[in-house]
Parts: sequence; structure tokens; C-alpha cells
Amino acid sequence: MSSALTDLFPHPIVQAPMAGGVSVPHLAAAVCEAGGLGFLAAGYKTADGMYQEIKQLRGITSRPFGVNLFMPQPEYGDRGAVEIYAHQLAGEATWYDTELGDPDSGRDDAYDSKLAVLLDNPVPVVSFHFGVPSREILESLRRAGTFTLVTATTAEEALAVERAGADAVIAQGVEAGGHQGTHRDNPETDGTGIGLLSLIAQVRETVSIPIVAAGGIMRGGQIAAALAAGASAAQLGTAFLATPESGANAVHKQALTNPLFVRTELTRAFSGRPARGLVNRFLREHGPYAPAAYPEVHHLTSPLRKKAAASGDAQGMALWAGQGHRMARELPAGQLVEVLAAELDLAKTALSGKGDLR
Ligand SMILES: Cc1cc2nc3c(=O)[nH]c(=O)nc-3n(C[C@H](O)[C@H](O)[C@H](O)COP(=O)(O)O)c2cc1C
Repeated sequence: MSSALTDLFPHPIVQAPMAGGVSVPHLAAAVCEAGGLGFLAAGYKTADGMYQEIKQLRGITSRPFGVNLFMPQPEYGDRGAVEIYAHQLAGEATWYDTELGDPDSGRDDAYDSKLAVLLDNPVPVVSFHFGVPSREILESLRRAGTFTLVTATTAEEALAVERAGADAVIAQGVEAGGHQGTHRDNPETDGTGIGLLSLIAQVRETVSIPIVAAGGIMRGGQIAAALAAGASAAQLGTAFLATPESGANAVHKQALTNPLFVRTELTRAFSGRPARGLVNRFLREHGPYAPAAYPEVHHLTSPLRKKAAASGDAQGMALWAGQGHRMARELPAGQLVEVLAAELDLAKTALSGKGDLR
């Protein structure tokens, strides 16, 4: 299915924005040059840090690209629960020879100043995670010539995205690596995440805007399935995390296919919001009682994660990964786009009855 979004880039393949230094300009540029849509992740950055990355990306590609923003979080998490969690993490701080971070280090992720930069210097595509921007903001981005996308994890959230006036919705299945883009974190809905194929079908019957499918996609055949189910494009994170251009820590990249890490889980252990990562010691020990307090827990654990990464300790890092992590291929990002596109073509031929479906 063609849409204004997929007219921007030849292959229906989006490289997911990955905050934490993963989706660096060289990764996004390689994807764009190969005919996919590359993304920068503004999450956790300053507005100027975001702007510098945009300038860098523009210096290495003239193709359309996207920038992703985190929505500000509306209210403080349970302060008492954060304090208790801080006590429980005291041993980790001693072990890593550091202090815990300040849980009050900001909760709006410099949203307003980042938007001001994106309105002054419009980019082709902007996507939002963790909530829905106001109708006014989506409208002003449209007037600036920017195509807007918002993540949804249920059909109800997709409806909210369409009603706010976004140009397209990212349907993020429960298989997805990293944070679920749920609009409002609610522990009562833990364990109710929807698998991608089911989610695409539900969203397709609920909204009429184009859908970008995300979660567990590692092969072109899966992209074909997502398109057949009603999506216009697929967004892949973990698959691109493994590429040489990705800025992910080498330990994180290696862990994706290391047989030591056999499964992933959604956890609040590192940030206070459900995010999917490889099950390691930190996740196992702290996940079961970590409070629903994002971004306080994110700030709290930041020095621990940095120290673990600096010492190459995979058991203390946030090893974000989708359920398909073991299928990661270490191909250069541009080549990965080409291989995925070729696999997609093959699968499309099979689906149309002109090929062998086996
Ligand atoms: C390391 C990592 C970081 C991520 N950071 C972001 C982010 O900053 N913004 C966002 O919208 N999604 C983020 N995501 C989620 C992706 O957009 C996407 O939903 C997910 O990667 C799809 O699942 P997959 O990893 O199985 O392909 C991240 C995912 C990973 C693996």
C-alpha cells in the first residue's frame, strides 16, 4: 500500500529510532542511502544535541529522514516507591563504586525546546513515543512540511493518534525491543501486550491512517506479512542495532546472539517503564519489584548502567532487544536494507501465488 510516507523512500523499511546513542547519524544515513527511512533518536538528548545530530546527518545524506521525540511524562511516579527502590539498589551502587542518580533530573526530556528547533528547522518526518502530542503541535508540524507518526500499542491508542491528527501510526507489538510506547503506563495492564500481527489487524479495522509495524521483525518475509496484514511499512530496531554503524555498545551487540542470553522480558528495572531487554542479572534481581516510576528510575539507575557498560559487564547493562534478537545479522546497515528488500520481494511473489511459499 502506498502512502505519503512510503512515497518518501523506496523500500518500506524504517530504521527505528534508538535512544541511548544507538541510532547515530551514520546509521541513519546508511539506511537512507540504501532506500529505507533512517531515524535519529532525540530521547535523553538536549535540544542542541539533537540539532547537532540533524546537521551532521544532513552533511552526509540528502535523503529524507526522521527524528523521534519522547513525550513529557504528566505526573510524578510514586515517590515512596522510588525511595524504597533506591534503598534496594544501594548494593549495586557499592558494587559499581558509584552513587545512584538523582531521580528528579527532569521529566519533560526538553520537549518544548526540541519542538521549537524542529519547527524552526523542519525535518521530513517526526515521530513521538510515550503519548500523543496536541492537535496544535501536529498541525504546526504539518504546516512546516513534516510528516508525523505516533506510537500506539493498542487499537484504542491508535484511535487517539488518528483523532489528534497524526499522519500515520506506529503499531508497536509486544515483541518489540526497548520501551513500549504505551500512552500511559499502568501496572494493571502488565501482561496484556498484543502481538504484532494481531495488533496490525485490530488497528487496521479501527483507523484509516497508514500503519508502520514494529516489533520482532528481523526478516523480509515478516515485513511481507505485516504489509499483507495492513501495514504500509515496517520499523526495525534490534535488526539495525547489530549493524557496524549502530552506536550500541559492543557488549550489547554481542549479547544479541550470545547463547548465554536465551530470552527477553519486559521490565521496569532500568527505567520504571516497561521495556524489553535480554534477561540478565540486574533484570532478574530487580525487575520483579521495580516501581512504575518513569523517568525517576531511569535517572536513578543511569550511573549504574554507565559503570556496567564502561567495565563491559553485560549483567548490569540495559540490553534492550526484541524477541527476534537471535536472528540478528552483522551486516552493514545499507546491505541489511538491501537484503531485507530482496527477502520482501521474494515473499511477496510467494504470497501472490507466483512462487514457492516454503
Ligand atoms: C535499543 C533500543 C532503543 C529504542 N529507543 C527508542 C526510542 O528512542 N524511541 C522510540 O520511539 N522507540 C525506541 N525503541 C523501540 C523501537 O522504535 C521499535 O519499536 C522496536 O525496536 C521494534 O522492535 P524490534 O527491536 O524487535 O525491531 C528502541 C528499541 C531498541 C531496541
